[in-house]
Order: sequence, then C-alpha cells, then structure tokens
Amino acid sequence: MSGRIPDSFIEALLARSDIVELIERRVPLKRAGSEFQACCPFHDEKTPSFTVSPKKQFYHCFGCGAHGSAIGFLMQYEGLEFLDAVEEMARAAGLEMPVSGSQQPRPDAGLYEMLAACAKFYGEELKNHPTAIEYLRGRGLSGEITREFEIGYAPSGWDGVIKKLGTNAEKLAQLKQAGMLSEGKSGSYDKFRDRIMFPIHDRRGRVIAFGGRALSDDGPKYLNSPETTLYHKGRELYGLYIARQRAGRLDHIIVVEGYMDVVALAQFGFRNVVATSGTATTPVQVEMLFRAADTVVFCFDGDKAGRKAAWRALEATLPKLREGLQAKFLLLPDGEDPDSMVREHGKEVFARLIEKARPLSEFFFEHFTARVNLGSLDGRARLVEQTQPFIESLPAGIFQDMMVARLETLAQHRLHTQAQVVPATTHQARLRGKPVQKRTPMRTAMAHLVQNPSLVEQLEGVDELAGLGNDEIQGVEIFRELVDFCAQRPNITTAQLIELWHGHPALPHLQKLAIWHLPGEEELQAQEFVDAVNRIRLCWVEILLSRVTNIIEQREEYRALQKRQQELKKQLDSHPS
Ligand code: UTP
Ligand code: MN
Repeated sequence: MSGRIPDSFIEALLARSDIVELIERRVPLKRAGSEFQACCPFHDEKTPSFTVSPKKQFYHCFGCGAHGSAIGFLMQYEGLEFLDAVEEMARAAGLEMPVSGSQQPRPDAGLYEMLAACAKFYGEELKNHPTAIEYLRGRGLSGEITREFEIGYAPSGWDGVIKKLGTNAEKLAQLKQAGMLSEGKSGSYDKFRDRIMFPIHDRRGRVIAFGGRALSDDGPKYLNSPETTLYHKGRELYGLYIARQRAGRLDHIIVVEGYMDVVALAQFGFRNVVATSGTATTPVQVEMLFRAADTVVFCFDGDKAGRKAAWRALEATLPKLREGLQAKFLLLPDGEDPDSMVREHGKEVFARLIEKARPLSEFFFEHFTARVNLGSLDGRARLVEQTQPFIESLPAGIFQDMMVARLETLAQHRLHTQAQVVPATTHQARLRGKPVQKRTPMRTAMAHLVQNPSLVEQLEGVDELAGLGNDEIQGVEIFRELVDFCAQRPNITTAQLIELWHGHPALPHLQKLAIWHLPGEEELQAQEFVDAVNRIRLCWVEILLSRVTNIIEQREEYRALQKRQQELKKQLDSHPS
C-alpha cells in the first residue's frame, strides 16, 4: 500500500528502527512512565505535551495534534518526502532499498545527476567569462558567496549544454526531461543562454532547477526552469537548503521575492533568507517555512506587485497559524528591494527593519480598515463582513481569539461567531487528548486494535459479522479488514500498521483512532476491547432479531390474510351467480 516500496520492506524497516532513538537524536526526550516526553518540536510550548510511545512506535502531540510513525516524524521534522524519509531510515538501519518492480534504479536518479552536471558546467563557465564575473562583483557578491550558492554562468550560443552533456540520445532525453532545453523548428537548443545561473536545491541539497538572470536585454530578465518531475515551484523555496545547512532550526526566517535578494542578504550576513521563484507564496511553502522557524517575516517590495504578493502570502499563512507561530510583514519603500536596501543602508538598518516588521494581525486589519469608514455603522458592519471569513479560516486557539477580540474592538460590536464558539471547544478537547468524535462501540473496538494489534488474539473470530455491510453497522467493513490484517501480523506496532495502510481510504480515520485516549488500566484494555466487540455483535444480533420478528409478524399477518381470503371465498361460494 506504500507506492513503489513493497509493504514488507516498510514493515521490516519500522521493525528495525526505534522511534525513540530516532527522535532522541533530534529532540531531547525525558522518560515519563512507559512513554517519553518533550516540548513539541512542531509548535511553541513551555510544558511538554509531545509524547513518544515505544510500544506503539508512534509520536503524538496533545497540543498541536501532530502524530505519526518514525517515517512521519522524519517527513514532518526534516521536511522530507515519503520516499526520501524511507531512504534515510533505511541507510541508518543498514537496509538496502528495494529496487522497484522493473529492477531499475529510481528513474529520477539520472535526472539529479544530469542537473548536478549542469550546475558544475555553469560553475566552470563562470570562471571563463570575465564579464559574468564582473557583473556579479558589480552587484557586490564575493567569490565565497558565489561559490556557496553555486552561482554560475550559462554561455551565449545555442548548444553549450547540449554539446557538453547531451552526448547521446539518452542524455539528451534527460536534459529535455530536466527542463534544460527549448524546442525549435530545427530541434532542441539550450534554454538558458548568456545568463547568470542560480541553482535551486531541494530539501536534500540536490539541484532540481535553475533560475537564470539575463545579462543582456534579450528576453525576460529572469527565466526559470519549467515544472518537471523533480521541480514543482510551489513546493520549493530558493535558499532554504543552504539556510538550514548553516543554521539548522532558525529563530526566524525571511521570505523575499528574488534570487538576488537572497544572495545579497547572505553577503551581508543574513543567512536565514529564502525566496519564492516568482510566484505567490503557496500553503505548502508556508508549511515548509514554519517547519524551519517559528517566526516568518515576509519582506516584499513596496510597489503594487509587492503588496499583492504580501496579501497572497497572508492568505496562505492564516490557516497554518498554530499556537506559537507568527508571521510578520515588511513592505519596503516603493522602488526598493531587499538587495538595494541592504546595499544602500547597510546591515544594521535592515536588521532593524526586520525587527520592526508588522505583525500579521496589524497588517491584516490595516488592509481592511483602509477601505472602510470606521466612523460609520455601515463601515463597521462592512469590516465585520469582510474579515469574518478570514478569521474563521484560522485554526482555533489563542490567536483566533485575539483576532476576534481585535475585530470586536474595531467594530464596536460583540460578535457571536461560529469561530468563537465551536472551534474553541474542539480545540480544548484536542488539548486534553480527548476524541472529538463520538465514542461508539465500533470506534472503540477499532481504536483498541489500532493501538494494540495483538488484541486480535482475544477474538474468537468475527465470522458472525461476515454477512454485514456498512449500511447495517457503520464501519464494519473496515473493522473486518482490520481484524483480518491484524490476525495475519499480530505482533506489529501501531506505526507499522499505519504505514502499511498508506493510501487506504480509511487511513485518516485510523490515524485519528491511533491517538485516541483510551481510558482505564492497561490490564483492563483487553476486556474493554472484547466488550466493545461484543457490543457490536449484540447490535448485529438485535438487527437480525428485528428481522426475524418481522418475519414472525409477517407470518401472523399471512395467516390472518389467508383466513380472510378463505372466509371471503366461502361467502362467495355460497351464493353461486
Ligand atoms: P524582480 O524583478 O524584483 O527582480 O523579480 P530582482 O530579484 O530584483 O532582480 P534584479 O535585482 O533586477 O537582478 C523578483 C523575482 O521574480 C521572478 C524571479 O524569481 C525574480 O527573482 N521573475 C522576475 C521572473 O520569474 N521573471 C522575470 O522576468 C522577472
Ligand atoms: Mn533587485
């Protein structure tokens, strides 16, 4: 169920790895009874609500709800894709990654190599082109920063890359697939020509794309790689890999618009800067940003485009604002960008600007209050109307409460919003680790099984439930599947179970059940599980009983009708027409 990697491998990998050890290496853990605790690495907190269960091989934060297996932890903490997390764990566990069905190495492997070769080629070309070196120097970049960001130069001419790296049909195809070529009437030619080349790295430091700045006035100022199998521009941030290499988890991270802004700021010692590649900030990017730091400062140009970019960033950020995270906004004076700012005014001035960046809430309300007249009732009503959808999109919690309070002050009106009442209670429920869902025997039974698959041995089979469908008892089909699954592997952990159900439509449901708080003593859990299953059986027996009752009633009705029929026939027979 895990895509190209066989289930057996995932199962073995999780069996060989220990989640406590894996997390301990990144987050110091303290023993607490049979579990381990820490302050959650995924949100800001003073008292630990992040727990790791060696038995379940599962982590769960009661504060922010983060949870998962060792694989999930690596994905969330290191920002890795599923396959990359598996690969990293396999390396640590000394397991050979399985090759996919066709016995081929991962098809992308060749592309990564090709892009790395392109970056190397551009790096060498830079050395041979004094005008390009001059240009970079003129923009204030040292050789050191240029090398660190692997900045290079794509020579003019149509086939520099093709001649050097597209030496056979296979390589040419790779260049094409990697987005390095353009297609003309007479075939392929180099996409990037006479440009300063900025390699874009993925989270593991592999080159996956390029941004190229024109040295001449020919064509667009910047040209970016197209979307490829390796590069999805909305899922990457220029400079993130280098920033994290330098500093690990950052105190705050600055988001700017341009490649040059990132490297210019790096030149001045700001090593926590990333850029979107000429697109609006996406929700995925916001998640990446908050994984890297608790505070994100969006620093955009003060022109119309910059203000629009800032607002789009705000929209993408709102739904992600968990406790302890914050976003700030710095709009530079019109005509300036971070590169020009830092070069004209120096490091200290820029640092102070960043420090004084406006909190999201301020930026948010200013945006709206500039458009309505707060002096009029009508204007205040408009304010409520316009801001409410945004405020409701916020995750429930203190920040949302504060935004509601601020809106109430501005609007001089006490709100009775959904946002205020409903999510706050679910939020509190989540904080106490209580299920938001109602407890039913089915959910209870499944929660027990997911959290302790060996409980399956307590069952004397569920054949009784065999003929049953979801219409009769909700969830019974998944329950049967789960029982069969556990019966085959009674010794697996919760984490293995969750990973092996990867891609199954019921997975989100099982994940919720995996972190349900099951009350009661450990020894009594088996009994509670059996009780829950028996409650399901009882429910089924009662359904059958009602059906039989129906049949009995029908039989009585049948007899009565038959009797009536005979009476009527008799009556008619006695009066032959
Ligand atoms: P800017 O136009 O602000 O350029 O574009 P810049 O970063 O200040 O560049 P310099 O200082 O003139 O060298 C910001 C970002 O928008 C994207 C690029 O990602 C660029 O870094 N962009 C810009 C394009 O994709 N294409 C363009 O033609 C221009
Ligand atoms: Mn610029």
